[in-house]
Amino acid sequence: MQNNIQLNLKHANILEQNVMQYADKVASIHDELHEKSNDEKEFLGWLELPSNYNKKEFENIKKAAQKIRKDSEVFVVIGIGGSYLGARAVIEALNHTFYNLLSKEQRKTPQILYVGNNLSPNYINDLIELIGNRDVSINVISKSGTTTEPAIAFRIFRELLENKYGLKEARKRIYVTTDKEKGALKQIANEEKYTTLIIPNNVGGRYSVLTAVGLLPIAVAGIDIDELIEGARFAQGKYLDKNLKYNACYQYAVARNMLYQEEKNIEILVSYEPRLHYIIEWWKQLFGESEGKEQKGIYPTGAEFTTDLHSLGQYIQEGRRNLFETVIDIKESETDIQLNRDEDNLDELNYLEGKGLDYVNKKAMEGTIEAHEEGGVPNIVITMDKLNTYNLGHLIYFFELGCAMSGKLLGVNPFNQPGVEKYKQNMFRLLGKPGYTETKKEIRTEVEKTSKKGQEEKEVKQAKKRGRPKKEA
Ligand code: PA5
Repeated sequence: MQNNIQLNLKHANILEQNVMQYADKVASIHDELHEKSNDEKEFLGWLELPSNYNKKEFENIKKAAQKIRKDSEVFVVIGIGGSYLGARAVIEALNHTFYNLLSKEQRKTPQILYVGNNLSPNYINDLIELIGNRDVSINVISKSGTTTEPAIAFRIFRELLENKYGLKEARKRIYVTTDKEKGALKQIANEEKYTTLIIPNNVGGRYSVLTAVGLLPIAVAGIDIDELIEGARFAQGKYLDKNLKYNACYQYAVARNMLYQEEKNIEILVSYEPRLHYIIEWWKQLFGESEGKEQKGIYPTGAEFTTDLHSLGQYIQEGRRNLFETVIDIKESETDIQLNRDEDNLDELNYLEGKGLDYVNKKAMEGTIEAHEEGGVPNIVITMDKLNTYNLGHLIYFFELGCAMSGKLLGVNPFNQPGVEKYKQNMFRLLGKPGYTETKKEIRTEVEKTSKKGQEEKEVKQAKKRGRPKKEA
């Protein structure tokens, strides 16, 4: 198979000789990652997943997808963060832009809807209204099996299905993707005998799109999951070369870190293809949760051009110079529209006669890269020859491995997300969840202690300034 993804650092003003200074460090992180890839505790299961996945589970996924496609007009995916973004990213990148708005006959696969990724009653009520009387199956995805947002959505949709179909038939329409043994969801699935798919122990949420987490919804959407894995397997082989000179994925990780050293601490993932909207969302989560810790890390954000050139474009061109962009350039659009001559030419567009719209889009991209580079915003360019299943498998692996390498270069653990717990604890305390109300007192006392101490320190400082030292506490 061929290499369909290329990296270009020219517009980021990054020289090969400077990248190569990281060669030894990169090689040693590469060895560390691969040596630990089978260690259950290391969350590195994704590293060799494309060549070493559970074939039986893969067949179960295909079988379940086939049944869902046959008996359901709507497929509801319940999950949050890494438990839904990957599936949505692949489905939306590879399908018709208005997939969910097409008629059943045009689509030929179930409408795919997502819930459990927010707590808005409006969202859930609107979704229920949209589903109406149509036949539905649901897939609840949660590795921990205890995440509040999907747990609430599951409770609501499970009840809905049970009321609609009765207990027995509802059971056949509920698919659970969770841990092999742990968590409340696994317990419910066992008791109710739901079809259950397993998330491998050593694969964390945001690295899990190529497991059942992503593959069941992707297969329901009619995408060839063999081809997706094949693309990722090609990438796995390609980026096994630890020589930085030949490893574009590691060069991307190094380039980000070099730019970060130059105070470029915001990275904008840019696309000129609206179908990549959720790839950007998935990427933001992958890099944000992996790197943003210990008060460090590049802030990952996204922009969709040319749309956002008319909103964020001004800031990118002339605002604070702490940005860099990573542009995904798709060389060949799946379809094109030729621009025809107009006799009146009132819109003065005849100079584009005979040109394809994709050509215009490409010129917008080239012009923007040039403008932003001149404006002090380095541009890393990732070129993909076509947006297809195989290349997307490659791109997913590229970003996963690039993220792991980048996090390690930064000196953080790219596989945990301790910060996510903080809001949950506060929310549970405010909701009065058993076991969390005590924390309230403890937290309050802690906060009071700290602010009292802070106040005293402030007073001592002020008194010193006035030349009348206050007795220190
Ligand atoms: O990347 C991660 O680990 C997280 O974003 C999780 O995917 C997210 O918090 C959902 O967790 P869970 O699958 O346990 O419900």
